[in-house]
Amino acid sequence: MARNATNKLLNKAKSDKNDEFYTILADIERELTHYVKHFKKKTVFCNCDDPRKSNFFHYFSYNFAELGLKKLITTCYKNQDADLFSRHKVERAIYLEYTGDEGGNVPKYKDKDIKQLKGDGDFRSQECIELLKQSDIVVTNPPFSLFREYVSQLAAHKKKFLIVGSWNVITYIEVFKLIKENKLWIGVNSNRNFSGFIVPEHYPLSGTEARMENGQRVISTNTTCWFTNIDNKKRHEDLILFKNYNRKDYPKYDNYDAIEVSKTADIPIDYDGVMGVPVTFLDRYNPEQFEILGCNRGVDQDPNGVYGRGSYLNGKETFKRLFIRNKNPERPK
Ligand SMILES: C[S@@+](CC[C@H](N)C(=O)[O-])C[C@H]1O[C@@H](n2cnc3c(N)ncnc32)[C@H](O)[C@@H]1O
Repeated sequence: MARNATNKLLNKAKSDKNDEFYTILADIERELTHYVKHFKKKTVFCNCDDPRKSNFFHYFSYNFAELGLKKLITTCYKNQDADLFSRHKVERAIYLEYTGDEGGNVPKYKDKDIKQLKGDGDFRSQECIELLKQSDIVVTNPPFSLFREYVSQLAAHKKKFLIVGSWNVITYIEVFKLIKENKLWIGVNSNRNFSGFIVPEHYPLSGTEARMENGQRVISTNTTCWFTNIDNKKRHEDLILFKNYNRKDYPKYDNYDAIEVSKTADIPIDYDGVMGVPVTFLDRYNPEQFEILGCNRGVDQDPNGVYGRGSYLNGKETFKRLFIRNKNPERPK
C-alpha cells in the first residue's frame, strides 16, 4: 500500500475512533535515546498501554536501572486479557506499578503484580488522573481520536511528556497554542524515521508500505511525529539558510503582510518580515532562531485575529502555513 493510502488510514483512525496503531520498540528506542538524562529518579506513566504487551512498558522496564527510574506506572483501557490490541470488550482495566528488580535488568514482575483498576482505565478518569499526579513524565502513543483532550490534560497538569501523534494535529487550537508558547515541540524523529506501526489483522495488507514482521502486521506512515516538552539538542540547532530574498520568488499573500515560502529550506536569510512556511518547518524549528506568530487555520487560534483566514496568492488558497519571523535576519546587501 502506498504511503498516501496508509495516511488515509490514519486519518480514518482519527475520524472513526479506530485508534489501533501500536508502537514498535525500535521507534521508542530511537527517540528515547535523546532524553536519557531527563529520566533519572523520575516516575514514568504510560497511560494508554497494557503492561503485558506494550513496547513502552517493555522499553522502560528493561531500561529501568540504566535510566535510574524511580517508578513505572502503566494503565490500559477496557482490557483484561493480555492482548496487544485493545478490544475494549470489558468495562474494567488493569494496571501495573513497577519499581525495578534488584540485581538484573530483565523485568521480573509476576501476574499477581497486575492490579485491577476500579474503572475502565480512561486517561481522563479520576483514578488515572491520581496516577498522573504522582508521575513526572508521561510517555506513550495515545488514541489519535482523543489527542486534543489528551494534550490538554497533560498541559493542565503541567506534566513533562513524550508522545506519538500525527502532523495533522498541529493546527488544532489546543496544540497550536502550546507550540506558539514554546510549551510543546516536535521530537527528534518524525515521518519516515518511524519504521511503522503494528496494526490488527483487519487492516489490509497489500502493496509496499504494509508488511508482516515477526508475525505482526505493520504499516508505515509519513504523517507521524513525536510531540514533547522535554528539551533535546536538535531544537537548538540553527537551520542553515542560504537563499536571499527577492520579490519574484517570495510573493506576498493577497490577504497578509507576509511572504510565501513554500519550502522550509528556501527561507531567505535576509528577510525581517513575516513568512508563511509549511507546517513541517516545525521539524527544524529552533526558538532562538525563529518566532512563531500564527497559522492560516482557525482565526480563533490568534488572539489578535490577524491570521487564521487561509492564505491566498493571486486568489488561490495555499496549503496549511505557519507564520514565522527570523529573530536575527542578515542585513540585506
Ligand atoms: C494508538 S494505540 C497505542 C497503544 C500503545 N500506547 C502503543 O503505542 O503501542 C492507543 C491506545 O489507547 C487506548 N485507549 C483508547 N481510548 C482510551 C482512553 N480513553 N483512555 C486510555 N486509553 C485509551 C487504546 O486501547 C489503545 O491501546
